[in-house]
Amino acid sequence: MFEFFPIHDVTDWKLIRVETIGADEKYWLAQPGSENCWLFKANNVHKVDGRTWSQREDFSEKVSGELALKMEIPCARIELAERGGENGCVSLNLCPLGWELQPGVVLMDGLLVDYVPGYERGNRTRAGHSLENIRRALADYGPPPNAAVPDWFDAFDVFAGYVTFDAIIANRDRHDENWAVIRPPSGELPGALAGSFDHARALGSTLVEERMAGLLGADGIAAWVERGTAWRFEHDPARGCPTLVEAARLALSMVNSEVRDHWLDRVRQITSADVGEITRRVPGMSEVVSTFIEQVVMANRRRVLDGC
Ligand SMILES: Nc1ncnc2c1ncn2[C@@H]1O[C@H](COP(=O)(O)OP(=O)(O)O)[C@@H](O)[C@H]1O
Ligand SMILES: [Mg+2]
Repeated sequence: MFEFFPIHDVTDWKLIRVETIGADEKYWLAQPGSENCWLFKANNVHKVDGRTWSQREDFSEKVSGELALKMEIPCARIELAERGGENGCVSLNLCPLGWELQPGVVLMDGLLVDYVPGYERGNRTRAGHSLENIRRALADYGPPPNAAVPDWFDAFDVFAGYVTFDAIIANRDRHDENWAVIRPPSGELPGALAGSFDHARALGSTLVEERMAGLLGADGIAAWVERGTAWRFEHDPARGCPTLVEAARLALSMVNSEVRDHWLDRVRQITSADVGEITRRVPGMSEVVSTFIEQVVMANRRRVLDGC
């Protein structure tokens, strides 16, 4: 027997503030009876061919969050949620009370003169947002608090895990506001890399279901995952953008072999049964979507193990 993941009704949770970073409006909410604070992210709803289509980022966030747990990737806890009739998810605040979350863009700006933020219009090459520079920017930071990694791992060792995870979940969206550090009140403990967050665009959430159905089967999926590029990192468009697997290979070549083996072991351990156990617990997920997700994850698992 299995239980569906619950959908939490957060309509009456007190609004703390509106989150302004990111494409869409999001709300920080206080969980009643606890000190927990969660970010509510509503699904994007579009009109496609005169029909209403919900992008179901809640599916991609929840399944990615559960896979991250399986792979021991430090990650925001995700729950399915509904707020005033809108479906979405809530993401548990990664920032301890009194600490400050500082997005990657702020670190990169402090590290490099003339750094152009990823969100600037026309910034196609993402100059400066390279794994080398991210490693430099993270030099003084530790791994996320309570991360399930050996205690000698540093922040970039964990970041290499995020890049590997992105290759597994087909997440092309690791731009400079989709990773962050957390900083304690002045003078106290050292800062740390924040757990991974924003997997809304992973696992093909931007595809309508008919398109997913058309891709099912080895050839379609193989071609689709191969088009997953790491375009949010520095690259030369004229020479073509590296794939997510190539980015993972580079990240894993920048850490020592124990760290590399640690992440590749986590990848090796994923089975299609694991993925199925997660997707079948998501209420309302169709056979097409769950099959698509399973095929994408398993194809990427093979690609990462072969290519990294
Ligand atoms: N779990 C979390 N804990 C702390 N901050 C978060 C968390 N999730 C998101 N944020 C912050 O909110 C911003 C917007 O959230 P994000 O999930 O990236 O939304 P979007 O999909 O709109 O980009 C992030 O860039 C980050 O600064
Ligand atoms: Mg984001």
